[in-house]
Amino acid sequence: MKKKNFYVTTPIYYPSGNLHIGHSYTTTLADVICRYKKEDGFNTFFLTGSDEHGQKIELKAKENNLEPKEYVDNIVANFKYLWKLLNIDYSKFIRTTDVDHIESVQNIFSVLLEKDLIYPSKYKGEYCISCEEFLTSEQIIDNKFHSVCKKEFVMFEEESYMLRVSQFKKFLIDLFKKDFLEPENRKKEMLNNFINNELEDLSVTRINFSWGVQVLEDPKHVIYVWIDALSNYISALGYKNNSTNLMNDFWSENTEILQIIGKEITRFHSIYWPIILKSLDLRMPNKILSHGWILSKNDKMSKSLNNVIDPISVIKKYSSDALRFYISYNLPTYKDGNFTDELFIESFNTNLANNVGNLISRTSNMIIKYFDGLVPMVDMSNEKLYKKGDQAIYNFKKHMDLYNVSEAIDVALKLGQECNKYIEDVKPWDLQKNNKIEELKKVISLLHRNILILIYLLKPILVESTKKMFEQVGVDIDLINFKSFENNDYKVNKISDREIIFKRI
Ligand code: MSP
Repeated sequence: MKKKNFYVTTPIYYPSGNLHIGHSYTTTLADVICRYKKEDGFNTFFLTGSDEHGQKIELKAKENNLEPKEYVDNIVANFKYLWKLLNIDYSKFIRTTDVDHIESVQNIFSVLLEKDLIYPSKYKGEYCISCEEFLTSEQIIDNKFHSVCKKEFVMFEEESYMLRVSQFKKFLIDLFKKDFLEPENRKKEMLNNFINNELEDLSVTRINFSWGVQVLEDPKHVIYVWIDALSNYISALGYKNNSTNLMNDFWSENTEILQIIGKEITRFHSIYWPIILKSLDLRMPNKILSHGWILSKNDKMSKSLNNVIDPISVIKKYSSDALRFYISYNLPTYKDGNFTDELFIESFNTNLANNVGNLISRTSNMIIKYFDGLVPMVDMSNEKLYKKGDQAIYNFKKHMDLYNVSEAIDVALKLGQECNKYIEDVKPWDLQKNNKIEELKKVISLLHRNILILIYLLKPILVESTKKMFEQVGVDIDLINFKSFENNDYKVNKISDREIIFKRI
């Protein structure tokens, strides 16, 4: 049977400065889900990148006395460095300044123009340069500022091509009947604030700056950043350009398509993006997962509010795995979350040091002490705790398949807690003292299998420590997959390593 495909994307981030923990959040989620899908037998493609055009970048480059491309090249190198440190295993990093992408965007624009879905007109409205966004009345505070970034917007009136968004009302209403946007409250917000209201046509070109993709049919116009940016999700797959054409594989019906974004760009992804796809006769993504914000004292953490935490310093101080874990477990996607040193340390100590790390080291110590490092392999499939291991696999997958990463991790951690409690209850040291060796073998076998399950379930998150954790329980990481637990057909080596894996911080 042909393997199913999985395609996951993150937003492409503005290189108007270095990335912060908020961006790491989205990208880590995408990476964790993609690694899980790979384990589950999918062919995967993971796309991230940078959104390099627009007025804000043009201004930033000027401030730094650099040409825009020179300016973004430096910042994009920092993006890639961060993703390497964070073990982000993307398949492709797209830049909107890539020639293939530019060709693709021009082609998309031409198709829409030909179909009369884009028309020349004039646009008047409020524009936030910092967010490269035309504002609606709900997004304006004190007649002067954008509610998200709190920056002053500009009044904008110029010749512009417009996208006939208003024509797509029925299409959007039907689309929103499906589970295509998550969570539910954002779906309601889009319906109430936009779709069920008057849907306004969108300005899609600008003439007062030049750092952007030129409209071939009318070269004084550049394509508005969002049409340029959204197209990356298909241009990266080779949509109508000269690069390798992955469209057939990853934008086909045989593919599960997940697009992860932060909630502030939901309108672009759930309204304009589907309209572009529909206009090009392309399928819709299966899911737009719009997660909440990482806050800093009640405000969104963002460059423009100057309240950001640098992920590189967190990784260097603690570790990439520690950051990946906090993001994946402590920041469920459906609500806003916090990132503070205290919360971070508490979560690490409770979950990784006291639960997972402690379980592995006390069990491997017992194997070394009582069995000279040779893991007893006894049939224990009738034991209650054995079944809990199987249930954990089942429930973990169930949550991951719904992209509920935090809930999935919780299932794994609960298995760890139960095993730690089991050790306290059965007291293996007493079994040894009283020479109940057969019973002791059973207890250790059982713990060993559940530990393998626990480590394996956390593999997409703890990518640097997994190998070491498996080694401590005598197993080669490459030999374990979901099938291994069906017949317990894994080879176990002699255990000798006693190093503590997650030391308390
Ligand atoms: N370039 C556009 C996206 C185009 S996608 C076709 C953009 N870039 S951005 O640099 O501003 O990044 C926004 C994204 O970064 C959010 O959607 C989210 O994924 C992430 N986050 C930035 N700050 C965040 C928080 N404080 N909290 C959570 N995620 C945040 O918008």
